[in-house]
Amino acid sequence: RTVAVILAGGTGIRLGLGIPKQLLKIAGKPIIEHTLAVFEAAPEIDEIIVLMATGHVPDAQRIVANAGFRKVTQVIEGGDTRNATTRIALDAIGEGDVNILFHDAVRPLVSARIVRECVNALWTYSAVDVAIPSADTIIQVDENDCITDIPVRSTLRRGQTPQAFRSGTIREAYRRAEGDPDFAATDDCGVVLRYLPGTPIKVIDGSDENIKVTHPVDVHLADKLFQLAAAQAPRLTDRRYSEELTGRTIVVFGGS
Ligand code: CTP
Repeated sequence: RTVAVILAGGTGIRLGLGIPKQLLKIAGKPIIEHTLAVFEAAPEIDEIIVLMATGHVPDAQRIVANAGFRKVTQVIEGGDTRNATTRIALDAIGEGDVNILFHDAVRPLVSARIVRECVNALWTYSAVDVAIPSADTIIQVDENDCITDIPVRSTLRRGQTPQAFRSGTIREAYRRAEGDPDFAATDDCGVVLRYLPGTPIKVIDGSDENIKVTHPVDVHLADKLFQLAAAQAPRLTDRRYSEELTGRTIVVFGGS
């Protein structure tokens, strides 16, 4: 069984809207609805759990009901941090061996190919990340904004989501992290890397389109990407062909 966890517990301070950014409409639909549609359509996914920002569970429930997403079994409140939200999701999934994919609700342009490759990689690995090479040089700075290091670019990747795990691995990593007063992580692979050292974490190729809507410019970018995809969709009849051409299924933008 494979469960997709949609992390929507944040409030989007950097975007600075009056509502959590996952509720913002892009291309006619709330961002989270685009995201959910990808997982609803993915044959590899059996169940979806949504972790929603405080006070907005009814909004998410309404979106799920209106869109008729049948794989969504729970819509519950997230935690104060992204990792706290992950913990709540793990409790909600309960015991038993499952594959779990954690995905940022605000990455609505994730593709069917990425979801499929994450799930397939779990046959061999117990932890999987999605990343792309960095076009920019990444520099390390100190507290005075002076460079301390410039790591070799070819060894660097920019992490995206989903991040996928066998449940035993991610549960054990979080169990060990629980007693650590210095716990600090911004994602879930980071928790495995730190608390279950030696666990191979496979990285599969993400895509440039799988952006995280974070700053105002990302809203324009995502909107444009959906427009481009919609313009191509009606001409495509073979679903697989469409995936290869656009990097995602036409279901994402409301086609069929
Ligand atoms: N997230 C979450 N629970 C939190 C914080 C974040 O589930 N307590 C989710 C967000 O909803 C988002 C994803 O993690 O889908 C990536 O986080 P980010 O882009 O940082 O979202 P926000 O925390 O909402 O944004 P900001 O940092 O600007 O406030």
